[in-house]
Amino acid sequence: MPLFNVYPLYDVTPVSGKGVYVYDEKYTEYLDLYGGHAVISIGHAHPKYVEAVRSQVEKLGFYSNAIQNPLQTQLANKLETLSGCKDYQLFLCNSGAEANENALKLASFKTEKSRVIAFKNGFHGRTSAAVAATDNKNIIAPINAQQKVTILDLNDIDAVKTELEKGDVCAVIVEFIQGVGGLDEATAEFFEQVDVLCKINNTLFIADEVQSGYGRSGKFFAFQHYNVTPDIISIAKGMGNGFPIGGILIHPSIEAKFGMLGTTFGGNHLACAAGLSVLEVIEEQELINNVNEISCYFLKLAKTIPQIKKIKGKGLMLGLEFDFEVGELRKKLIYDYQIFTGGAMNKKLLRILPPLTVKKDHINQFFEALVDALDEN
Ligand SMILES: Cc1ncc(COP(=O)(O)O)c(C=O)c1O
Repeated sequence: MPLFNVYPLYDVTPVSGKGVYVYDEKYTEYLDLYGGHAVISIGHAHPKYVEAVRSQVEKLGFYSNAIQNPLQTQLANKLETLSGCKDYQLFLCNSGAEANENALKLASFKTEKSRVIAFKNGFHGRTSAAVAATDNKNIIAPINAQQKVTILDLNDIDAVKTELEKGDVCAVIVEFIQGVGGLDEATAEFFEQVDVLCKINNTLFIADEVQSGYGRSGKFFAFQHYNVTPDIISIAKGMGNGFPIGGILIHPSIEAKFGMLGTTFGGNHLACAAGLSVLEVIEEQELINNVNEISCYFLKLAKTIPQIKKIKGKGLMLGLEFDFEVGELRKKLIYDYQIFTGGAMNKKLLRILPPLTVKKDHINQFFEALVDALDEN
């Protein structure tokens, strides 16, 4: 049976990984500055993570959400402590799209309204409401297009105000740093005014932290760079270091009702063990300090390269913008220099999303390769 051919693939076959590197079947070493799309937070095959998953699957890999699962509570408590999101409630699911789908659904339940405000170049996933809130017509099927979504320009606070005052908007969903779109950010003033407008108009403010969360921005959540209080925070990618897990943090003002949300696999024992070990490593290895230190070092080196026209993003969620499309450069970095980087909707942007354990030596390795590759152009 052939695979449904939806992914354009690089001709590389990683079979193992360790820390910031992955290895193909011939033991060729690749520096992973893409983190499998911002997923690898604590590094490939981290021993603590491996042991947590191994020992849990030996005991109990899965049971449904019909029984007590203390691992979910442990994960929720650790997440509350590390994120500083005091008194928020946790609902666990399996992916970023599912997290946003549940966030939007909950906003609609809570406000009894149904229109969503989202932003240009935003990406929120491929499920029904999440994809409708995503600014990419190519991935919105007619069945998704039935959702009521209004896409506005980032920083256009007058437009947000006008739409919210119509009274039918259940949620404003935003990435505080755009991922797939290309690392654009709105101003602090805009984010903070949106927060206030949501509160005035009985609209929930959803922070999509699927990519920017878990320390990647240099704070636990990217919204914490601003003075805002989201009603719902969606999380996934870095949360499981590759194990599929997602979730939403829900403000204490939103009350749960039995059956309101639900899932078979969400919050299973194995996913919780993986998620818990990720949080423990982030804490023990002080990875958020590392993000800030390495980010500064990266920016210092990036500024010395004249071909780089703009540096975007925060922490280890960074973009280097050139005045040419970077497709060929990315290929060259993989095939000639064995370095993975990411692309974006903005074709001139090279995305840097390494494991949060990355060190200065890895950054040196990248910049030496980049300078060489650019010289060859
Ligand atoms: C900001 C953001 N939200 C949601 C998603 C969707 O996550 P998933 O692919 O796990 O469904 C992504 C994925 O890239 C993302 O970057």
